[in-house]
Amino acid sequence: MIDDKEQINYIETLLASDDYQTIVLQLQNIEHIYQQVSKAELIDSSWHQSSELTNGIGISPNDAMRCFQGTSRTAKYLKAVYQQVKRLIKQYPDRPVELVYAGCGPWGSLITPLLVMFKPQQLQVTFIDVHSTSLNSLKQIVNALQCELLVSNYVNLDATQYLHAKEIDLIVTETLYNGLHSEGIVSIIRHLARQLSEKGDVIPKRIVIDAHLIDMKSELKLLNSFDHALGQVPTKRQLLENRVFLGNMFELSKDVLAVIDAHQMNEKPSDNLPCKALFIPDINDEQHFALSTCLYLTDEIVLDEYENGITYPLCMSLSRQYIGKQVLFKYQCITPVGFIQQG
Ligand SMILES: C[S@@+](CC[C@H](N)C(=O)[O-])C[C@H]1O[C@@H](n2cnc3c(N)ncnc32)[C@H](O)[C@@H]1O
Repeated sequence: MIDDKEQINYIETLLASDDYQTIVLQLQNIEHIYQQVSKAELIDSSWHQSSELTNGIGISPNDAMRCFQGTSRTAKYLKAVYQQVKRLIKQYPDRPVELVYAGCGPWGSLITPLLVMFKPQQLQVTFIDVHSTSLNSLKQIVNALQCELLVSNYVNLDATQYLHAKEIDLIVTETLYNGLHSEGIVSIIRHLARQLSEKGDVIPKRIVIDAHLIDMKSELKLLNSFDHALGQVPTKRQLLENRVFLGNMFELSKDVLAVIDAHQMNEKPSDNLPCKALFIPDINDEQHFALSTCLYLTDEIVLDEYENGITYPLCMSLSRQYIGKQVLFKYQCITPVGFIQQG
């Protein structure tokens, strides 16, 4: 059994703090409790198995558990989820908020620390993961938190196939790598966003993919001047000093997906999503063509570049034949998932 006063103290301190070290400490406290409850030291081989799905891979329960340690990622998601659930409780005071967490992993890390802050009449959570090992571990955590009444279902399914019995108010998912390669967040959000209620929303609200030419040597030198242990990362302006911005290539949001869906209604259903064309200027020997990833978890809470592996730039190969020409990519939603050059 987890001491709920202790848990409330950790999460309240985390939500109220902007100090990186304070946040690290609270996450370490929570992680220590979760390790004990889910007996992570007794993990068997199923914890190391990933799954190949139609629309991307599902990383193994062990790798999913380790995502918790991404301090900025985990803390910013928790703050965003807390803020959005509070907003939705106000919007729907007469019924619980329906939250669907797609790809929850073995700890449900982006929601479970918050459960002690809400009542079952306010919030009902559905956890989805393709790995049953993760859901079994998560049940132990929820039971130890004595928050069983806040969970309406544990669903062992590919989230791109899941149909919720009611309208969804909040979708939470962190099923991505940098540059949206390999994992299925685009298809997951595309499928679940069609089931949103009128005031419903998604976390992340927007994922912005921009294209750059990056002088990697200079960028690494810049990065080395920051103390990562203190959560320091360069600002956008500092990064742009070693980059040539080529343009915004793709944005993932429920609004953009709705426009794409409307366009594709009269066409053959497509597994590819369109991207904006880019003009390629001259490229010198130090420059790499790369995609940056920025997660707007809400309008205000942003996971910036280099705050986590999922927001590191993704270098891609681009033939020199495109210098002085336009290049067009498409986003391929079936495996291998990611941006593919069209011409
Ligand atoms: C990057 S981990 C994140 C784990 C946890 N949500 C966190 O943020 O710490 C992604 C999780 O999503 C699951 N997953 C990925 N694609 C999925 C899909 N299409 N349907 C269901 N689960 C999926 C994986 O099994 C894994 O547990």
